[in-house]
Amino acid sequence: MSDKAILELHGQKHEFPIIKGTEDEIGIDIKSLRSITGGAITIDPGFKNTGACESGITFLDGEKGILRYRGYSIEELAEKADFLEVAFLLIYGELPTKEELDKFHSDIKSYAVVDDDIKKILDAFPKSAHPMGVLSSLTSALTAFNPSSVDVSSPDAMYNSIVKIMGKFPVLVAWTMRKKHGLPLDYGDSSLGYVENVIKMMFKKPHEEYVNNPIFVNALDKLLILHGDHEQNCSTSTVRIVGSSHAGLFASLSAGISALWGPLHGGANQAVLEMLKGIQADGGDTKKYMAKAKDKNDPFRLMGFGHRVYKNFDPRAKIIKAAADEVLADLGIEDPILEIAKGLEQEALKDEYFVKRKLYPNVDFYSGVIYRAMGIPSDMFTVMFALGRLPGWIAQWVEMRLRKEPIGRPRQIYIGENYRPFKTLEERG
Ligand code: CMC
Repeated sequence: MSDKAILELHGQKHEFPIIKGTEDEIGIDIKSLRSITGGAITIDPGFKNTGACESGITFLDGEKGILRYRGYSIEELAEKADFLEVAFLLIYGELPTKEELDKFHSDIKSYAVVDDDIKKILDAFPKSAHPMGVLSSLTSALTAFNPSSVDVSSPDAMYNSIVKIMGKFPVLVAWTMRKKHGLPLDYGDSSLGYVENVIKMMFKKPHEEYVNNPIFVNALDKLLILHGDHEQNCSTSTVRIVGSSHAGLFASLSAGISALWGPLHGGANQAVLEMLKGIQADGGDTKKYMAKAKDKNDPFRLMGFGHRVYKNFDPRAKIIKAAADEVLADLGIEDPILEIAKGLEQEALKDEYFVKRKLYPNVDFYSGVIYRAMGIPSDMFTVMFALGRLPGWIAQWVEMRLRKEPIGRPRQIYIGENYRPFKTLEERG
């Protein structure tokens, strides 16, 4: 096979090198395209065919339904690791030794205090504010309370920023929910594991002891691992591109949270549950909603279906579906919403429209069922996604800075007016 790609433009041939990844994926290296063609660019809306970087963090093969973090399969990680181990793996490239993990956790705990003045910012939000908007704002506000920008050439400074945000972020997550529900704000319990502590911070009532339910802890641990990273998706690309201007880590993360919020991305988990509740309230007629999803004149989409990269199945969805069954069985809950979800899935899997377009349930299709069983309000679902994605965003930001990537600055093809002379107010009629 040739190791060059040839482009013919205006009768002239140009050669471009081929880059090969460790899993044999190929990319055409067009870094010299503008200079050797005299200014031609590529156009690829939505970046469906564009690689923005070379990355050693996450591998996914959408055709085969493979997802691996640093070479480890998502199936094994979800079964055998806990979230903090996976966070360490994503950020530092290797599974931690017991000693490294203990140190990582204890350093995170040492930073799990948020400046009390952040509460004033939180107070200013109306109760109706969406938690994702609040979380994004509070994460950005952390910059003001931790103003020294990260010296990326210092491993210690990088480490401190990482454990700082890993410690403070769960507090912000819990406060976002507690404030909305009128509960006093709490700083958590440093005797607990990372995930146990998050759950306790979210749910503890002021007048009661909180006893963690191991079913919830295991389920959330698994969900956070599954959300840990997903290569160059919309929010991760946002984190990298904001960071590429040398904006700080917290500011870049705040932008990533905003990107995740949208219903076509992380916001789909909330949208799925609302869709399922809507179908239930409308009599549970899944066929009617299948027809709506296929009708090009109807803006309705089957939320939780389809994926930009997975065109076979989403391996995370398989694990989550099994986990949803397990959690509900363990808790002895029969949730009609789960039945509607399964009914929709069954219909979609044999429907020509969905089969032809390779639309399968994605990670968000069943996660809401588990969050709901845990008592997490639906507007917090995407916040939970953000909590899981945090180490992935951090890992990608660190990689981007250490590889000294240039500032992200796409080009365009201009389709506006050609030059026209300025008209004075009088001349404009
Ligand atoms: N329901 C009905 N039709 C769909 C759906 C859907 N959920 N998703 C895609 N299609 C159709 C779409 O109308 C188009 O049809 P046609 O070729 O006739 O015009 C075709 O399938 C291709 O869709 P696309 O929008 O061009 O595909 P994309 O790769 O740009 O979008 C997606 C991927 C995830 C945004 C899209 O499938 C979608 O909107 N899904 C629903 C939202 C959702 O569940 N998002 C969560 C994604 S997974 C979590 C994450 O990591 O973000």
